[in-house]
Amino acid sequence: MKTPAITAVGHYAPDKILTNAYFESYLDTSDEWIVTRTGIRERHVVENQATSDLAVEAARRTLAMRGIGADQVDLIIVATVTPDMFFPSTAALVQNRIGASRAWGFDLSGACSGFLYALATGAQFIIAGTYSKVLVIGADTMSSITDYRDRNNCILFGDGGAAVLLEPGDEPGYGYLDWVNYMDGCGEETLHMKAGGSRHPATHETVDKGWHYIYQDGKSVFKVAVIGMAEAAVEIMRRNNLSSDDVAWLVPHQANLRIIQATADRMGIGMDKVMINIDRYGNTTAATIPSCLAEYYADGRLKRGDNIVLAAFGAGYTWGAAYVRWSI
Ligand code: ACO
Repeated sequence: MKTPAITAVGHYAPDKILTNAYFESYLDTSDEWIVTRTGIRERHVVENQATSDLAVEAARRTLAMRGIGADQVDLIIVATVTPDMFFPSTAALVQNRIGASRAWGFDLSGACSGFLYALATGAQFIIAGTYSKVLVIGADTMSSITDYRDRNNCILFGDGGAAVLLEPGDEPGYGYLDWVNYMDGCGEETLHMKAGGSRHPATHETVDKGWHYIYQDGKSVFKVAVIGMAEAAVEIMRRNNLSSDDVAWLVPHQANLRIIQATADRMGIGMDKVMINIDRYGNTTAATIPSCLAEYYADGRLKRGDNIVLAAFGAGYTWGAAYVRWSI
């Protein structure tokens, strides 16, 4: 059995930035409310781009870091809830655009836990010895399903893409070492996008009713997210005999700084050991965790040998955590 290792990581955010001041200009909200309730100061959003464009750029940066051509990739998994189209998959669009001539792949819908789900899925192909190069991408264009008149939701989300390359690790004890993933479909009630699928195909009526936008009962989701993300992170520590001193970084899904703080508290670690970029990107759904990895690795804060705990909670409900000993 091979242990999968992350051998490269890349991140892409579109150029356009929406600051909290922008929302103050037309909504009954304030920078102070947004920062204290969420930790978000600005978010990047697309202009004439779709999820595959974000994913392609992230994939190219990842492969460039590894110094290999796309023709060496065996499998592409794109975690997203905002695919360019229902079909073909975003993975197929990425495969064509980057020239991954011998790869197959698919999209995976796990919302904010999508990257953790995709990592667990891609890892199985390495563990089984089936493949040696799996590209796991988290990419979302949340602005495409956000109602910018809804102050409860529009301040939360941003667009972005990030990717990692999974390969068989070269050293025991390093790499993607353990994971737990969970799901409870009762979450449909408080967090969903009602229309556009087979339950409510697009009609003038569904558009008029705003059913193609994110619906979220934020307070209800907050309560379960705090518990779910913290419990999964603590479970992964316990399973691997990790004390708070052993953990170099918590890499949390970036939905709300208060949820992140609660998770760090439960793990017994200080905020100085928590990767944060929610202030600059908001919630980019499947892209948050790999974008943190990319940024902290690029500036030297994430180092080989670091024990890191990834944790997420999102629509479904979906949630989980993973233990990685960083190997590059
Ligand atoms: N500006 C000013 N006031 C606002 C704003 C705003 N942008 N938005 C809401 N308010 C008001 C509300 O109307 C409410 O007023 P009321 O008391 O008069 O009714 C008040 O502020 C408090 O609202 P709450 O909803 O209680 O605010 P809360 O502290 O819960 O924060 C938030 C809201 C940020 C959405 C929080 O609940 C949250 O982060 N929830 C979890 C999000 C999450 O993790 N989602 C999962 C991932 S997303 C996915 O999977 C796609």
